[in-house]
Amino acid sequence: MYRISLQKAEDAATIERLMAKVFGPERHARSVWQLRQGPAIESLCIVAKDGDEIVGSLRFWEVRLGSQDILLLGPLAVLPSLRGKGCGKALVEDGLRRATGGPWPLVLVSGEADYYPRFGFVPARDYDLKWPGFIESERLQFYELMPGALTNLPPGPFVVAPVAE
Ligand SMILES: CC(C)(COP(=O)(O)OP(=O)(O)OC[C@H]1O[C@@H](n2cnc3c(N)ncnc32)[C@H](O)[C@@H]1OP(=O)(O)O)[C@@H](O)C(=O)NCCC(=O)NCCS
Repeated sequence: MYRISLQKAEDAATIERLMAKVFGPERHARSVWQLRQGPAIESLCIVAKDGDEIVGSLRFWEVRLGSQDILLLGPLAVLPSLRGKGCGKALVEDGLRRATGGPWPLVLVSGEADYYPRFGFVPARDYDLKWPGFIESERLQFYELMPGALTNLPPGPFVVAPVAE
């Protein structure tokens, strides 16, 4: 079993090592990382611990979708040696639970097309998103934190941008 808890300041270096191991040294050049400007949402930054060891991490950033602020899920990372044991699932479910009831109507993720639907994510390809850079469109998926948030969206296109811009 994994214990999920909020990230602490002293976890930062371990999480950075996990990110480097999972996403590699070029990670900051990826379009999704360009959206992560400013600090992550502290109340939604969680780790999975096996005993005292950090084995997984999930963070969320706020991003602009057209004229509204929504959440961007990720990076989500689990130690390679511990994959397939439910750790990623526990992190995503916990993170979405913490995000529910907040001010954000939607969560957007750039992730594996066949991983996120199990949590309720749906393809974003019909919403005419203007992503900042190259993206395989099937990676973009939405999760409704507020029921009806997707059906209530005005017509696109929607520029996806950092909130700090
Ligand atoms: C994606 C990742 C977070 C999944 O974590 P994990 O702990 O291995 O996943 P879980 O054990 O919780 O898997 C839950 C379910 O998803 C399935 N699954 C796991 N990885 C998957 C993937 N990449 N694609 C599709 N399904 C996947 C599992 O088989 C499991 O299915 P089941 O419930 O039917 O048994 C992990 O593989 C990882 O860190 N990958 C590299 C980084 C990455 O791609 N992050 C996501 C993009 S931000």
